Order: sequence, then structure tokens, then C-alpha cells
Amino acid sequence: ASKEADLKIVLLGESAVGKSSLVTRFASNAFDADKESTIGAAFIVKKYYVTDPETNEVKLINFQIWDTAGQERYQSLAPMYYRNASVAIIVFDLTDISSLTKAEFWIAELEAYNREEHKIQILLVGNKSDLSKNENDNQISETVERLKVPYFKTSAKEGTGVDELFKYIVDSIDDG
Ligand code: GTP
Ligand code: MG
Repeated sequence: ASKEADLKIVLLGESAVGKSSLVTRFASNAFDADKESTIGAAFIVKKYYVTDPETNEVKLINFQIWDTAGQERYQSLAPMYYRNASVAIIVFDLTDISSLTKAEFWIAELEAYNREEHKIQILLVGNKSDLSKNENDNQISETVERLKVPYFKTSAKEGTGVDELFKYIVDSIDDG
């Protein structure tokens, strides 16, 4: 690899929406149906190689991922983890509309932080697409339109949409 870049990412969202499962799918291409709820936060490093289609040059991206704990009692710790992040992935559960309300809360908090001259790129992810029967689609699309953030649907269980999400992140830092 002739080029190298570090990329700091934070995941935020209500407990049990699948933040840790998304990271495990991305970092190890695995899924654990009995995943333990995260305590405090977990730090995961993942090396990711991308080839420039024009120059064939290989670039190494060192993903540095803070996977935060969604349980209410850890909420006040979040700024420690998003403070230095370049990208924030806000996750909700497509089958649990209350988790979308929590996602809106995190987006508002990060937008407030960004108003103080920070530039965290905010992405919204609806996870557990394998369980979803599109029951909340109207409310979700209304919210996505209003928030004006890039939106992805994923299944950490089946792997659907996970590559697209991280590919989007890699492409957007390449431009910047
Ligand atoms: P906290 O660490 O408590 O904040 O939760 P989390 O957001 O990290 O959720 P976690 O990854 O631990 O997943 C919670 C539960 O949902 C686990 O039982 C997972 O196996 C399950 N789960 C996660 N993603 C998916 C998915 O895409 N589909 C299905 N069917 N289950 C999922
Ligand atoms: Mg977790």
C-alpha cells in the first residue's frame, strides 16, 4: 500500500438495535445471535484496502471504530467517543419505531456539536431489514426527508447493505 489513511468512526443508537452486530459483520463477516449488550464502549480496528479504479493504486484505510453502549445509563459518556470522530453512524431498528426517535435525538446532539465548528459526517442506518415487514416505512421516510442525512438499510444478520454503507464512507473521505 502506497497510501494510508486513518478513519475514526463512532456508532450511536438505542440498545439492541444492532450496532455491535454491524461492526462484527463489517470487521469479521460474522453474526452472533446471542450478542451481549455492550458495556461502556468497545474499540475495534479494521484494515480495509481500496483500489483506485483509474490508477490501480492501493490505499489502506485504518478504520478505528468506537462502538458505544446504547443503554441509557451510558448516554452521558457518548461525547468522549464522538468528539474525535470523522463519521457517526446512527443506528435504529427498522421494526422498533421508538429506536428511530432515539436516532433523531443523537442526530440533533451531533448537529449541535457540529455547529461549534466540528465536522462529523452523520449517517442514518435502519438495521434488521431481514425482520422488517415495511410496517414503519411511512414514518421512516418522513423522518429521513426531514433530517436530510444519508440513509442506509442493513441486516447485520444477513449482511445486506453493510458493504454499501462502508463503501459510501470510504468514497466520501476520498473526496474530502
Ligand atoms: P447495545 O450494545 O446494548 O447498545 O446493543 P447493540 O446496538 O450493540 O445491539 P447488538 O448488536 O448487541 O444486537 C442486539 C440483538 O439484535 C442481538 O441479539 C443480535 O443478534 C440482534 N441483531 C442485530 N442485528 C440484527 C439483524 O440485522 N437482524 C436480526 N434478525 N437480528 C439482529
Ligand atoms: Mg453493542
